[in-house]
Amino acid sequence: MVANVSDLEFTPKGDARGKLIALESLTELVPFEIKRVYYIFDTTPGTVRGKHAHNVLKQVLICVSGACTIECEKPDGTKSEHRLDWPDRGLLIEGLVWRQMKDFSKDAVLLVLASEHYDESDYIRDYSEFKRQTSCCE
Ligand code: TYD
Repeated sequence: MVANVSDLEFTPKGDARGKLIALESLTELVPFEIKRVYYIFDTTPGTVRGKHAHNVLKQVLICVSGACTIECEKPDGTKSEHRLDWPDRGLLIEGLVWRQMKDFSKDAVLLVLASEHYDESDYIRDYSEFKRQTSCCE
């Protein structure tokens, strides 16, 4: 069962004009082929998004503007919280990890690189079902 959460740090290519970060598929920072990109913005204050896990999907999350917090829970019950508040930071989430996104700033734009096309059948949206599927791992 794949279930990993890793903080990422990207090295900007900076010069007098400013900074640029380039990410490519199948590299150390993005260890999958990028099949889909989506972004979350204009989030209503107080909103908590996500609240699901995936069986297969791998994602890199980057708050390219503003800030938000990602809460993760791995199958063994380990919980972690990751504040994404600068474009040179990211979070790699692979496989069966329960995640929710919260504390979005007004200007937050959360960019997500995903390893698969959108597939509702890959989602586990019921927390008790996630706990049932991972009960072997605690
Ligand atoms: P949802 O899963 O509720 O977003 P979040 O996990 O951030 O809370 O998705 C919101 C809607 O967008 C839902 O109708 C499914 C749709 N959607 C797509 O069509 N394609 C996608 O790639 C994603 C992530 C969502």
